[in-house]
Amino acid sequence: MAPRVVCLPGDCIGPEVMAVAQRVLGVLAPDVSLEDRLFGAEAIRRTGDSLPPDTLQACRMADAVLKAPIGHPEFDAADVRPEQGMLRLRAELDVYANLRPAREGAIDLVIVRELVGGLYFGARGVRDDGTVFDTCEYHPSQVERLARRGFELARARGRRLTSVDKANVLETSRLWRRVVHEVADDYPDVDVDDMLVDNAAMQLASAPERFDVVVTENMFGDILSDEAAVLGGSLGMLASATIGGKVDLYEPVHGSAPDIAGKGIANPLGAIASAAMLLRHTGKLEADANIVDAAISHVLEAGHRTPDLYSGKTKKYNTTWEVGGAVEQQFSDSAMRRYAFHAV
Ligand code: IPM
Ligand code: MG
Repeated sequence: MAPRVVCLPGDCIGPEVMAVAQRVLGVLAPDVSLEDRLFGAEAIRRTGDSLPPDTLQACRMADAVLKAPIGHPEFDAADVRPEQGMLRLRAELDVYANLRPAREGAIDLVIVRELVGGLYFGARGVRDDGTVFDTCEYHPSQVERLARRGFELARARGRRLTSVDKANVLETSRLWRRVVHEVADDYPDVDVDDMLVDNAAMQLASAPERFDVVVTENMFGDILSDEAAVLGGSLGMLASATIGGKVDLYEPVHGSAPDIAGKGIANPLGAIASAAMLLRHTGKLEADANIVDAAISHVLEAGHRTPDLYSGKTKKYNTTWEVGGAVEQQFSDSAMRRYAFHAV
């Protein structure tokens, strides 16, 4: 059965990149059903809630959610912000393992970021003296289920797992390290090493090819995955899949980029690559996912680039729709080749 997908077009450049990703899905995999729902800034304007109940309900009933970035300057200082809806969506769906792959030349790594715990969800508040606090909290079971995902993934890839923490300072990191090593006993075929997060940030910049699977807590994963994203040239290219919960959630790693919204120059490749991950993981449509990934590579090789990838050597840059159209053109060619191959 083709997956039923709820699409959350998001804010600022969100609807621009989502429209391209939907078009790609519609042409390549017309059986996949796509349904838009209100979410983020537009949902606050219309209902006062960034994740209205019927949107949450539709997400719960879907096979997968494809989400574009949210966040809008209009709500920066407001009590109700689009980001809150996104954190609630992650928590409600209990999507705890966020896979953020980065591939470029000899670099082939995946960051497995814990997504529903840590500083993002711990106790927070203001004390009488004006001190403001956010708390990092982890239960061993949260670490264990995430670590297991990481080891399973490492087993299917290069059999190396790096666990990133700050165990020289933080209690939660000492827990993290202990639980990861307990889980490691079940995976003797995977090499595991621990790395402090400051060192990991340095090694990612200086020797990224040494990494295979990186498991880490929510906040460290947020920061390291943006760093890993630029290894591939631009944050606009990186896709992510969040699994483990009731419904799979796919989203590009980049933000809503208010500065370039409405100009038609946002890079749609992260959103398109997220759609490819959806086809692969939820839809079990590996061949179609490979076609999209190959199309993205061809389009880049052919020199189609939005301005974030623009360099002095590139003659001119392309718009969001031009890059999307170039991807579509590529995969319709390869789809035809695939059908021709099947026909032989
Ligand atoms: C991400 C984003 C979000 C996060 C923000 C928008 C809340 O940066 O998905 O990486 O920090 O998780
Ligand atoms: Mg982030």
